[in-house]
Amino acid sequence: MFVGEAPGADEDRQGEPFVGRAGQLLNSMIFAIGLKREEVYIANVIKCRPPGNRDPQPEEVEQCEPYLIRQIELIRPRLIVALGRHAAHSLLKTELPLAKLRGGRHSYHDTPLIVTYHPAYLLRSPGEKRKVWEDLRLARSVLEAP
Ligand code: URA
Repeated sequence: MFVGEAPGADEDRQGEPFVGRAGQLLNSMIFAIGLKREEVYIANVIKCRPPGNRDPQPEEVEQCEPYLIRQIELIRPRLIVALGRHAAHSLLKTELPLAKLRGGRHSYHDTPLIVTYHPAYLLRSPGEKRKVWEDLRLARSVLEAP
């Protein structure tokens, strides 16, 4: 299961997460783990687009969290990949920089969780792609663990 921040304009229009350019890059990330988009569940921490694309506010995260927790209970994913700083901070209740959270095995409501960069950030900073492939190798190894 991949968890992003909040729907963007394209996602709001279509009612589906990660359908814009960031979504295409997310598809490549999913493929790099050896999976297809139909084989993973994609969600967001926040369920509506924040006005003007501003960062979600803590009380909005709090309001949407029971929905996400219910999604996780129903999907029972083997692994959650938190996409970007906002998702990582909201889920792990920490302010640690992403660089400190990457590479570690965390957990969210008893589900293993790893952290990587948001695909929208990768579109702006393609030089960071190598780090994401490392994170995806970690994802693969968590999934392959007995
Ligand atoms: N960015 C997100 O965090 N989620 C989406 O669904 C689209 C873009």
